[in-house]
Amino acid sequence: MKTIGILTSGGDSQGMNAAIRAVTRTALNSGFRVMGIRKGYLGLITGDIVELTATSVSDIINRGGTMLRSARCLEFKEEAGVLQAVETCKKFGIDGIVVIGGDGSFRGARDLTLHGVPCVAIPGTIDNDIVCSEDTIGFDTALNICIDLVDYLRDTSASHNRCSVVQIMGRNAGWVTLEASLATGATVTLVPEVAFDFHADVVEKIKKGQELGKDYFIVMVSEGIFFNVKSNKNYEYLQSLGINNAADFAKRIEEETGIVSRESVFGHVQRGGSPTAHDRILATTMGKYAVELLGQGISNRVIVVRDGKIVDLDILEALSMEKPFDVERLQMANMLNI
Ligand code: ADP
Ligand code: F6P
Repeated sequence: MKTIGILTSGGDSQGMNAAIRAVTRTALNSGFRVMGIRKGYLGLITGDIVELTATSVSDIINRGGTMLRSARCLEFKEEAGVLQAVETCKKFGIDGIVVIGGDGSFRGARDLTLHGVPCVAIPGTIDNDIVCSEDTIGFDTALNICIDLVDYLRDTSASHNRCSVVQIMGRNAGWVTLEASLATGATVTLVPEVAFDFHADVVEKIKKGQELGKDYFIVMVSEGIFFNVKSNKNYEYLQSLGINNAADFAKRIEEETGIVSRESVFGHVQRGGSPTAHDRILATTMGKYAVELLGQGISNRVIVVRDGKIVDLDILEALSMEKPFDVERLQMANMLNI
């Protein structure tokens, strides 16, 4: 191994820059050249590649986003795209690649390895939806942004005695919502993985709160409850109620309870800003680990957190694992919040 490439792929997440820095500096300090591949797998297809030095990665440990940029590259899902990427690696002398991204990006890393370009992957996504890992780079920062935003909302919601319906980003998974709810004390918490009943779990909960003297409410829902995907247990149910989005959800709460309701959709703001200490350190540790594996001639691995420890797994094995949603934790959130 003489030259290591690095790319960030899929949705960006805070801490990707810290991982780029750790990979680059570890590789340089181990005697490798480092090539930064821009815009994920697209840069491998188009040859959008720059050499990285120790100073190329100065002043990024504290920054959100990714200095290498990211992309969702559909061409790479085709054999022709992978073959083109392999040619680019030959042209630039890239002997191995560290891929930072989500499970889609891991599949790309597996394909490249199978075509003779050894890859090691690092989980970078705010969603924490990677089945083989208990944690992902960016999750902690996104969670803390949600907490700040809910704290802001509380002020205005309380002043006007309203119900705020907060929609949390997290794709098809409810992990960000669950932890944000535990940390903010939302009155109601709804995720795609667990079926709910609008009357019992939302209307009655708010009414009970009103009886107890609560005069404003935070109802926290994952964006995924509105997605038409198999993992969402609530899509058809919500459709049957005529609820398609957070605005419909808020309107229905207002109709059923009489409390004035407003929706707040957090969206991509969750993906920005300076990474927390947790994400910077996770990214740094995983970045160093990834280069060490490639340096030892080990590839087709993904770095993960299992039982609180950072370890590596075979990518295929990792992708076939399951991460059941923590229903007991959701029950705890919903039990404590009135
Ligand atoms: P994430 O990595 O965050 O899950 P995506 O699912 O969008 O995000 O995947 C990122 C990129 O990884 C895709 O744009 C594509 O280039 C590549 N990719 C995704 N799925 C596959 C697949 N099944 N085979 C090969 N490459 C894939
Ligand atoms: O996977 C990260 C994520 O931010 C999800 O939470 C969200 O559903 C999706 O990406 C949004 O994708 P895009 O940035 O392409 O709109």
